[in-house]
Amino acid sequence: MIELAASILAADFAHLADEVALVERGGATILHVDIMDGHFVPNITFGPPVVQALRPITKLPLDCHLMVENPDDFIPAFAQAGADMMSVHQEVCRHLHRTLQHIVQHGMLPAVVINPATPVDTLVEVLPMLHHVLVMSVNPGFGGQKFLPLALDKIAHLAELRDEMGLNFRIEVDGGVAHDTVAQVVEAGADMLVAGSAIFSPGKTEQNAVEFLKLARAAGSVQVA
Ligand code: DX5
Ligand code: ZN
Repeated sequence: MIELAASILAADFAHLADEVALVERGGATILHVDIMDGHFVPNITFGPPVVQALRPITKLPLDCHLMVENPDDFIPAFAQAGADMMSVHQEVCRHLHRTLQHIVQHGMLPAVVINPATPVDTLVEVLPMLHHVLVMSVNPGFGGQKFLPLALDKIAHLAELRDEMGLNFRIEVDGGVAHDTVAQVVEAGADMLVAGSAIFSPGKTEQNAVEFLKLARAAGSVQVA
């Protein structure tokens, strides 16, 4: 199933509940929540209180992308706030297997994120534990950046590994995924599509989501045929 994970980083924070309602109406089935600490990435966003505020206003799963130096310290707080999925960066987890175990123990679906410079093969041993792998198609920290095509080979490589290993983790892609790039990422094998600036836009948000999903699903049906 191809899904749009709308990234609220690009939303109007003064009207977050309205923005969420619009992307839901447009067909988004996941909310992607970018947590940035000003250390791992050169930007700061929000933390568990915003996740907690979102929880009662939507039924959509909250997909928390932790761009922080010390994700282990925050697992309990995000679980308690109502996060459904938690992705941690391979680059900061010295004991990645243990971190993933903690995420599961706290009742969330575990995922690992890899930066553009991080090879897919660093994940082979933990793939059987994962709900999904998040392939960054920009260097994390900001919305509205240009899609890096090197992500396409990594997505395809992950899809091959999944087949070879008989696994069923999903493949998510994040950064610069927009109406003009979404077909390529779906053809490469991604099925959880994070998009922020391509979706949120005053007066156009719902329609942007509808059109984005139409293009994604068209590319998906070509792939199956
Ligand atoms: C970037 C974030 C993304 C960001 C994507 O560090 O992880 O989720 O919101 O924004 P767009 O879709 O604008 O590239
Ligand atoms: Zn993200």
